[in-house]
Amino acid sequence: MTIDPTGRMTVHNQAKGGSVLTSSSPSSSHAPGDRSAPAARHAPLESRRVCVVGAGYVGLTAAACLSHLGHRVALVEADAHRLDQLRQGVVPIHEPGLDRLMADGVAAGTLAFFGEPGPALPGSEVAFLCVGTPPQPTGVPNLGLLAGAAREVAAAATSDLVVVVKSTVPPGSCEAIELVCQEHARPGVSVSVVSSPEFLRESSAVEDFLWPDRVVVGADDPSIGRMVASLYPPGCPVVLTDRRGAELVKYAANTLLAIKVSFANEVAGLCDALGTDATTVLEGVGLDHRLGTAFLGPGTGYGGSCLPKDVAGFRAVGEALGTPTYLADAATRQNDRARREVVRKLHRILGPLAGRQVAVLGTAFKAGTDDTRDSPGLDIAAQLGAAGAGVRLHDPLASGAAGQVESVAEALDGADALVVATTAPEYGELPATAVAAGMRGRTVVDAAGVLDLRAYLDAGLSIYGVGRGLATEFPAIVWPPLRWAHPPAPQVAV
Ligand SMILES: NC(=O)c1ccc[n+]([C@@H]2O[C@H](COP(=O)([O-])OP(=O)(O)OC[C@H]3O[C@@H](n4cnc5c(N)ncnc54)[C@H](O)[C@@H]3O)[C@@H](O)[C@H]2O)c1
Repeated sequence: MTIDPTGRMTVHNQAKGGSVLTSSSPSSSHAPGDRSAPAARHAPLESRRVCVVGAGYVGLTAAACLSHLGHRVALVEADAHRLDQLRQGVVPIHEPGLDRLMADGVAAGTLAFFGEPGPALPGSEVAFLCVGTPPQPTGVPNLGLLAGAAREVAAAATSDLVVVVKSTVPPGSCEAIELVCQEHARPGVSVSVVSSPEFLRESSAVEDFLWPDRVVVGADDPSIGRMVASLYPPGCPVVLTDRRGAELVKYAANTLLAIKVSFANEVAGLCDALGTDATTVLEGVGLDHRLGTAFLGPGTGYGGSCLPKDVAGFRAVGEALGTPTYLADAATRQNDRARREVVRKLHRILGPLAGRQVAVLGTAFKAGTDDTRDSPGLDIAAQLGAAGAGVRLHDPLASGAAGQVESVAEALDGADALVVATTAPEYGELPATAVAAGMRGRTVVDAAGVLDLRAYLDAGLSIYGVGRGLATEFPAIVWPPLRWAHPPAPQVAV
């Protein structure tokens, strides 16, 4: 490690003769991870013209935030309806703070919307590709949209261009995308491809982009890597590596998060059998600063457009390389179990589910978003439907699911059981007495762990959770392998 006179810290990587640079500017306006800094316009080191392709959670957030940072951004969206919405000032997704940044950028003339790269690209030195890379049954994501976007920007570029792949892709993809770009670029125009995966979380996307824990840039030419890093908020920690390394950082980070979630549910399973509370047990585990409490809570497991897909991608890469991914495999199995377990609990409590009516609260994959991709709540509802139960669904932000109703009261009306599948604050605030009065049956499965157990018990409801000491039965514990020398172990009847 070396520290230069400006305070820049450089860590030299042992691997592959390359160098990983971790830098943080001493003149930064905020410490890494400090989100209390004012959201005023950061002054970028150098304002650049940037094209962003794809106006989804990643692209729209990146475009609005880059314009907020002082860059001039042209955002390209292929979907005509979404493009119309953007041009009319309508934010097509639910993300706190995005509407203001978008409006500010449009008013300042630093953010404009286009339907194709041709008119958007002239003058841009950099194009961020932020299109979807949806999952396939093999685990390898479908890179068709990404290749298409790469072809379009390469063909439209009239001067040298750096293409930044922000979409999540398996290691090696940027090299392939560069070949696609070179094949379609005009004679004399050079297109190079850099990896810079995105780590934002839906529901706090703007905050995560402007105050990232770190920015990762993978470039085979370090000077291009440094130029791309300089586009991000000044002062944020930057990990500069090669392209395959950057691509793997994203897969590895999401896989480790998934492993933590699944481990928490593994502990919750034991807590259910032992009759003790997983939330407290996991707090006791996670407060060890080496482990951390984040992503260590019991519940319905992970869902959404990223974690399941990226764990599948990580496993597919391992399989292709002949390298075992035991932990990722186990996390996936435990996650499938977490969803099945909710239905299994209902079955144990109610008996056959055919003909029963169940209210499922939470169709988004988590609280605070309208995104329903790979939603645990929808999966649980589908399993209940397959078992012959009638299901009514509700969500405070997401809409459009079959069986979805407008209000919690409608969902509860005539329900034999209630399942709470997300931590939406609205559900935690439901008065237990109103829930008890609103439903036909007495069974509540609080899979998200947000309800006030005492209040629900007092309201005459039978409440069950995930690892909250509220299992349907607590079998007596017999430990045959254990032998106490003195006194002899008591025999406990099962
Ligand atoms: N959603 C997240 O929280 C998140 C976080 C980190 C990384 N990622 C990754 O980022 C990528 C994008 O994710 P997302 O959730 O924003 O996707 P998304 O599906 O919400 O949005 C993608 C957008 O790109 C548009 N598009 C597709 N092809 C286009 C083209 N050729 N030209 C212009 N527009 C085009 C689509 O119409 C859509 O609006 C994925 O690889 C994802 O895995 C997502």
